[in-house]
Amino acid sequence: MMTAEYQVIEGVAVVTVDNPPVNAISQTVRDGIIKGIDRASADPEAQSVLLRCEGKTFMAGADISEFDKPALAPSLPDVVNCIEACPKPVVALIHGYALGGGLEIAMACHYRIAQEGAKLGLTETNLGLIPGAGGTQRLPRLVGVSKALDMITGGKIISSEEALESKLVDKLIGHLPEKSDEPQNMLKVALNYCQKVPQQTPVLRRLSQAPMPHQVAEGVFDEWRTKMHKRKRNLNAVQSAIDAVEASTKQPFDEAIKLERNLFMLLRESQQAKALRHIFFAEKKAGQFNTKSVPSTQKIQKVAVIGAGTMGTGIAMAFSNAGYPVLLLEKSHVALEQGITRIEKMLASSIKREKITAAQADKSRNLITPTTDYQSLQDVDMVIEAVFEDLEVKSQVFAQIHEHCRSDAIIASNTSYLDINVLAMGSPYPENIIGMHFFSPANIMKLVEVIRTDYCSEATLTTAIKVLKHLNKVSVISGVCHGFIGNRMYQSYQREVGLLLLEGASPKQIDQALYNFGMAMGPLSVADMSGLDISYMMRKSLNKEDYDSRAFLVHDRLVESNRKGRKTHSGFYKYDENGKKLGTDPSVLQLIAATASELGFQPREVKDNEIIDRCILALVNEGAHILDEGIAASASDIDVVYVNGYGFPRHLGGPMHYAQASGLDHVAKTIDQFSSSYGDRWWKSAASLRAGSQNGKWEEVV
Ligand code: 3HC
Ligand code: NAI
Repeated sequence: MMTAEYQVIEGVAVVTVDNPPVNAISQTVRDGIIKGIDRASADPEAQSVLLRCEGKTFMAGADISEFDKPALAPSLPDVVNCIEACPKPVVALIHGYALGGGLEIAMACHYRIAQEGAKLGLTETNLGLIPGAGGTQRLPRLVGVSKALDMITGGKIISSEEALESKLVDKLIGHLPEKSDEPQNMLKVALNYCQKVPQQTPVLRRLSQAPMPHQVAEGVFDEWRTKMHKRKRNLNAVQSAIDAVEASTKQPFDEAIKLERNLFMLLRESQQAKALRHIFFAEKKAGQFNTKSVPSTQKIQKVAVIGAGTMGTGIAMAFSNAGYPVLLLEKSHVALEQGITRIEKMLASSIKREKITAAQADKSRNLITPTTDYQSLQDVDMVIEAVFEDLEVKSQVFAQIHEHCRSDAIIASNTSYLDINVLAMGSPYPENIIGMHFFSPANIMKLVEVIRTDYCSEATLTTAIKVLKHLNKVSVISGVCHGFIGNRMYQSYQREVGLLLLEGASPKQIDQALYNFGMAMGPLSVADMSGLDISYMMRKSLNKEDYDSRAFLVHDRLVESNRKGRKTHSGFYKYDENGKKLGTDPSVLQLIAATASELGFQPREVKDNEIIDRCILALVNEGAHILDEGIAASASDIDVVYVNGYGFPRHLGGPMHYAQASGLDHVAKTIDQFSSSYGDRWWKSAASLRAGSQNGKWEEVV
């Protein structure tokens, strides 16, 4: 297959890359570009060269799927060197995305023009890499060291306007001045531009020979190292990226570029980069499911959210931000008013954090219609129920929804734990009932667990996933069980946390050990933040034999003495009036010691490694049981849930990938040891783990 076409139009050699869907720079693309540039160099008909792409985007970077295979020539640096050395001026025409290697190729060109709306970035650190084809050397020469460090270490994507302002691109192609909505013909404008560039520019505009635009102040790089150490904890690529940019200011180009390439090659083989590649592809795969036919999807034009509490308001905003008209239905005007105030606060905070503009906030607000009238549900295509976590209340609400909604409307519950099969069974249209478990705050968190009931049709499932894609969410399909994938596993994690407290670890030690492991927050800080009463209420709905009640006795006693966490200024920790953590509460330590002694625990020294093993392997083993039961379709789906919903470190790829990278046989043996020490009621190893320990990997789902 040809992936780079060559043609000469009006004296311009046009090299067109065509490798759908995102023009990833695979071996054939690299080969094709070099052949195109060589041909243009020798072609007497061509005075300049235009490098462009077919399809929806310019090159979105190196082909990530090649990184786990032996390197194939020509390399990306070969391509970049060939372009920059071309004796005729080469112009890159950017539309869509120019990311990673795509932007490196564009920077090797002597000019860059971009269509308005294009997005540019060196996003390699998001994959545990640094730019490996001159990005750390050419970007600072174009935009200055500070901007380059900001873009590279943050893996940031900038707009075409920002790129023009910072001189990363030379010209923007916008709309026709006389018809403001009609885009200019990109190719025509680009050809015109190519015809006018002076012939001597290749020499003048080779960035490898350009000086740095500004002097760099002493200490800048160390400041960045400290800043990024906090912001991107444990991510090796970020520190390497700073080293490489620093080299661009201190060493000749030829030497600094060797350092960049060596660092890139080392990182490419690292566990972190492998884990980040795993999660990149896992997120793309999530939400896809095996189906015999392609089910037809329903058009969703208007939605309703029932309940304007914490979740309902966030869900309503997630939809309205994506352009959907939303009915927000409450049981009383007072509750509705409170919900609207909450939405106003969320919009103000999104504007403050520059997530949306004031105009976008207005648009989003105007799309939400508050109501207390169930009759207004008659023309909605989808309903998301987010009322109290109580099966009786939800059943009543479902009955009212059915009374007023069209029979083909999809009805989703946002329940955290309840059995959605019961709600589906009670419905006249069980095939339309589904779970959509959003995470809080629902307008920000990307993850949604889509709960497939025993009755829901493939069309309902596909439609829900399609809508969530419009909302820019990552969907993972889960079967019905208590807590679905994420909360069910989290219960096992919290069980070990509770037991470790009784065995002698302090809340601070447990939180610190798991934070150092990479979790976004320690588990007891999370419990205080979420409200200890929420999980207390959930446990009250369980049978005592369904969980290890010893592990949660301290939690229960805290709630019963009105210490519900941050909201009451005391839980496992103390908090000031503004919710700022003040530290450990000595009375909690006494409560833990007294409860432990009452339950017959002998205090002992607990090592940090044991905390990590017990808590993380509890997640892994529960995840494996979830696989055994077919609740999750694959180990990678579980990883997507944990990385996007529970603060599991992305650079470890999720709990299941972490276990596989640590060796599933080793993990299985450790779990067997826990089973001997603590009994097999909670530590019975899952069949999929035992099978995985034979093969070294989790079973692939076909
Ligand atoms: N390599 C291989 N496949 C890629 C890819 C890449 N760089 N980027 C995207 N794809 C694939 C996806 O896996 C997906 O495949 P599927 O259809 O089989 O699931 C398909 O292309 C479409 O991708 P998306 O669904 O993500 O499409 P969107 O339109 O939503 O997003 C995008 C487009 C913003 C370009 C997004 O795909 C993206 O961020 N891609 C990764 C970009 C990146 O990180 N580039 C840097 C690579 S590292 C590098 O260049 C190293 C160099 O310095 C040496
Ligand atoms: P909440 O208590 O903040 O809000 C519930 C809202 O539902 C209240 O405003 C109440 O007035 C309204 N309501 C009750 N009965 C109603 C009825 N008959 N008609 C219309 N509105 C009615 O609760 P929250 O936290 O928003 O939870 C809602 C659901 O989302 C629950 O099922 C919960 O388990 C689930 N969930 C909660 C998460 C969280 O972090 N809070 C996360 C994910 C899911």
